[in-house]
Amino acid sequence: MINKTKQTGTAKLEVKGTTVELPILSGTHGPDVVDVKRVYADAGVFTLDPGFTSTGSCESQITFINGEEGILLHRGYPIDQLADQSGFLEVAYLLLNGELPTQPEFSEFAGRVTQHTMLHTQMDSFFDGFRRDSHPMAMLTGTVGAMSAFYPGAMDSSDPEERNLAYIRLIAKMPTLAARIYKYTQGQPFVDPLNELGYAENFLRMCFSVPAEPYKVSPTLARAMDKIFILHADHEQNASTSTVRLAGSSGAHPYAAVAAGVACLWGPSHGGANEACLNMLREIGSVDRIPEFIERAKDKNDPFRLMGFGHRVYKNYDPRATVMQKTAHEVLDELGIDTPVLRVAKELERIALEDEYFKSKKLYPNVDFYSGVILDAMGFPTEMFTVLFALARTVGWVSQLNEMIEDPTQRIGRPRQIYTGAAKRDFVPISQR
Ligand code: SDX
Repeated sequence: MINKTKQTGTAKLEVKGTTVELPILSGTHGPDVVDVKRVYADAGVFTLDPGFTSTGSCESQITFINGEEGILLHRGYPIDQLADQSGFLEVAYLLLNGELPTQPEFSEFAGRVTQHTMLHTQMDSFFDGFRRDSHPMAMLTGTVGAMSAFYPGAMDSSDPEERNLAYIRLIAKMPTLAARIYKYTQGQPFVDPLNELGYAENFLRMCFSVPAEPYKVSPTLARAMDKIFILHADHEQNASTSTVRLAGSSGAHPYAAVAAGVACLWGPSHGGANEACLNMLREIGSVDRIPEFIERAKDKNDPFRLMGFGHRVYKNYDPRATVMQKTAHEVLDELGIDTPVLRVAKELERIALEDEYFKSKKLYPNVDFYSGVILDAMGFPTEMFTVLFALARTVGWVSQLNEMIEDPTQRIGRPRQIYTGAAKRDFVPISQR
């Protein structure tokens, strides 16, 4: 249950002769926080922090990141251990419930997810409204939001059972939806889920099998897909998770709140970076062109940035990138592929990590740097990469949404501002202007 901070001190804020005492709160790991919720009431000023570089929006027990040391924990478990020893559905249970499941608990959870993998048949009609060359994220934003029309009961967030069913449905249906989006862009028939298969295996079969011939999912690719889902499952209060929390704080339908998260994730600074990164590696094309792009990334007058590098929190290696790099080699070895893109990626990483500019700004590869290389090798078109990110991040979004709803201190999120517009003035009729 939330509300486990401890007051370990007091901060004093002096504003125009008024001294305000603010509680300093400590958690399990990470920096202490100064609780500023009384600042406006006691000192008559707002705090200001565009981009939230120094501002926490909530108390949470789901994910902890230490950006300086490159640490990522889900409910206390390090991401590399989960990626190597767990499975995506087990991590989903952990994120949602706070503890790793016993075998009976896992079987019940996985069984429930499996029972909800199919979409309402009328959902398929939405696809006919899209052009075949629509961006898959446009289709995902629209269809996830549309799903809220099929489950009106989920609006009642006061009922834990209703909430849990809504989360199970979303986790179960996102692979089916994502696969349909892919098939629609390919002009191929939709393939329905086969519930005897595992989560990642089912997804790969729905994407890559065709009715014309039998299809066997490679266990290596299924394991790699499952691992990629684990690496993208949750990540503290990132932009899209904060969007889901803010949308959900008004009591909006959970599927509409998740659709808002999908929309936010689409941006190239966030989840869209994996697509942008692969496009960049392709544009670089060969190792000898890397210096030209490194110089462009440093040029303040050039908007170009090295996609897949840098992070708001990680000022060290993104621990997910380390696991992703290992997975990239496993997949490419299994497929017997040595793509020029992988060679460029490895050389770009080597050069960037030695370059003073990147070292001084603590720019390291992030989760998006290698994921695109793997997904490309597995046969996914670049435009599908962020859809896969959203598929995996859905479990983080619903876990964080649920934590917010269960937080007794939770209120609708409503930030303030500093106003620098026109001073108060009277209206002037057009005849006098
Ligand atoms: C994700 O928040 C999360 O947790 C997100 C995520 C998740 O799991 O949810 O981890 C997923 O979104 C990973 C990030 C994917 N985005 C990219 O790879 C896009 C490229 N990266 C950058 O756009 C940037 O690094 C951000 C957006 C990721 C972080 O931006 P910040 O924290 O606002 O940092 P900044 O833009 O202020 O950059 C600091 C400095 C700047 O130079 P100065 O103004 O100080 O001179 O570093 C430079 C930037 O110009 N810089 C880069 C760079 N990233 C930052 N220069 C070249 N190439 C880059 N990639």
